[in-house]
Amino acid sequence: MARRDLPIPPAQDGADLEPAAAGRGRAKLILFGEHAVVWGEPAVAISLPVGAKAEARFSVAPHSQLRLKDGRRDKILAAVDARPPSAEASQDAALQAAFYALLGVFEPPSALDVQVDLEIPTGVGMGSSAALAVAAARAIAQLLERPDLVEEAVWASERVFHGNPSGLDQQMASARSGLYIWARQQPEETWAARPLKAPPLTLAVCQAAPGASTAQMVELVAAKRAREPALVDQLHSFIGHISRTAHQALSQADWARAGELMDLNHGALVALGVSTLQLDLACHAARSAGALGAKLTGAGGGGCVVALTPDGAGPVLEAWRQRGWSGFEFHITG
Ligand code: PMV
Repeated sequence: MARRDLPIPPAQDGADLEPAAAGRGRAKLILFGEHAVVWGEPAVAISLPVGAKAEARFSVAPHSQLRLKDGRRDKILAAVDARPPSAEASQDAALQAAFYALLGVFEPPSALDVQVDLEIPTGVGMGSSAALAVAAARAIAQLLERPDLVEEAVWASERVFHGNPSGLDQQMASARSGLYIWARQQPEETWAARPLKAPPLTLAVCQAAPGASTAQMVELVAAKRAREPALVDQLHSFIGHISRTAHQALSQADWARAGELMDLNHGALVALGVSTLQLDLACHAARSAGALGAKLTGAGGGGCVVALTPDGAGPVLEAWRQRGWSGFEFHITG
């Protein structure tokens, strides 16, 4: 998504007079299982208390418009009309295509003005695209009184950003905040997110590098699998095994084991080719400063690292700060 500084466009005539409908979507962090989850393996993820807030109203403009705002600074990140997708590969074009896909499901009777305030950075592995889509779809659904279309609209939007989304981001963006295991359930093999009961856990997160496109990272793994199907499938099932074992470790508050599993998971992501030098360095710095484990989170190619810090994240945040990465600590109640 775009990070350009754009002037704030004036509200469309009368738009501010229309009552707005509101919606919310949550950001997520994957603790275990990214990429392998696209190929059917379980994942452990956190639905965060922050994400995106949206307002939708009818507009007199010729096209529906999405204004994406950085909720922390009063800044417009992108303003796009809903038009058919172009072949352009820019982040604005992707945002426009996603908005077009989302509106294509709702087919509103007239143009809409949709404003989304993002509370998290984009493209760093925190599920900003799903948070945005869920918030916007919920607001539009409320305006048009079509709550039945939310899921389909978010899926259409997520396909633009992810290519082949696992559905995990969408689930986490729609869920209550907390810790979940996302896995296929017997007997129908349908996917579901089950809350994972665990004692409170403390994590440190930092953005170690600019983010990469999720769709490109997912494609990169698919291309590797096409070249080496047996080896890549083994890596995926290895990661799936880690997610299942981590479920036990977290629910028993076995932090040492959970940390070791994070390191193993990171190693497998390195083998899949989705880590970078910066992400590896951030993991090493966290472990040297006392984290029990650390790994990249999300699609990789840049973005964020998460570290397990049951005794407090202070030393890890300081080690990152010395290397120029700002991070934050958060507590999760399972
Ligand atoms: O980087 P994010 O927040 O888009 O997460 C991507 C997670 C993947 O497993 C790589 C893709 C998916 O659809 O689950």
